[in-house]
Amino acid sequence: MEHAVREYYSSNRALKDFFTAPELDRAFGEALAEFFSKHLCEFDKPVLLELGAGRGILARDILNYYRENYPQLFKNIKYYIYEFSPYLIEKQKQVLRNFPNVEWVENLPKIEGIIFSNEFFDTLPVHIIKGNKELYIDDSGNEIWLNVQDERINEYINRMGYNGLDQVLEVCLDCIDFLKKISESLIQGYHMVIDYGYTSEELPRFPEGTVVAYRDHKVIKDFTKGAGSVDITAHVNFSALIEYGKDFGLETILFQNQRDFLMHIPTFLNELEKLSWEEDAGSVERLSRLKTMLVSMGDKFKVLLQRKLS
Ligand SMILES: C[S@@+](CC[C@H](N)C(=O)[O-])C[C@H]1O[C@@H](n2cnc3c(N)ncnc32)[C@H](O)[C@@H]1O
Repeated sequence: MEHAVREYYSSNRALKDFFTAPELDRAFGEALAEFFSKHLCEFDKPVLLELGAGRGILARDILNYYRENYPQLFKNIKYYIYEFSPYLIEKQKQVLRNFPNVEWVENLPKIEGIIFSNEFFDTLPVHIIKGNKELYIDDSGNEIWLNVQDERINEYINRMGYNGLDQVLEVCLDCIDFLKKISESLIQGYHMVIDYGYTSEELPRFPEGTVVAYRDHKVIKDFTKGAGSVDITAHVNFSALIEYGKDFGLETILFQNQRDFLMHIPTFLNELEKLSWEEDAGSVERLSRLKTMLVSMGDKFKVLLQRKLS
């Protein structure tokens, strides 16, 4: 999965399939920027570090918002991007060419500020488990179920209380490893994940697991075919991020669905209100896109904010 995802995002297919909240409307980035500004003022030299920046749209909207509304913060802020696709880095550099405070990093630097991502964790590879068997795919794309070999998988299932569940489980060890890296990178500050996902209580809603592949915005049922040319994703297990975060000094201070999160940000509410009074086609379209963030994405997407304990 790791290899397939990397290959996929390094090709021009990557620009065709994903369609995310920041791509829907700048109101998403502006709401995040406003939310972050309240925390960034705690730091002398504030840093934002975005994981997996796609086309760079979110970075552009956040920085534009600071330039217009918080000029002092805009002057001080450093914006790092951690991205593995050379193809997307080129796109990001074009979109962000007017922002000298943006820098691309190959490893997570030590920072004081906020590390955040939108639809990044769902791209990290998962182990697919049923009972004591793990799914493997051979070179011809055939499914083979073998005994679980990595002891960390059993430890995870025990710790999360999933023992004996009669359903497919997805274990994202890379998510845990990434959480550790994030914590090590934060001298002090916050970590925010926005993604589609579930909690342990919601697990029974996904008896066959959540891994799917997309091509041209359509679900490809058999994700074992076409690896590298399809976008493979798995829902994020937020209970695991909350539980394992404790090991790395990451204390959860907010966990909401995207609708409730956005509805608490005045910038977003003002934009909704303003657009609802306008009658021109552009405003009507924008209003409908904002509603998509609240309605169809609103429940499915969750927002987790963790604070690094020093
Ligand atoms: C679905 S896109 C989301 C893009 C953007 N955050 C947005 O909301 O539009 C996933 C992004 O994460 C990047 N990515 C996925 N796995 C990665 C990894 N292991 N390391 C660095 N970047 C990764 C992809 O190249 C892509 O930019």
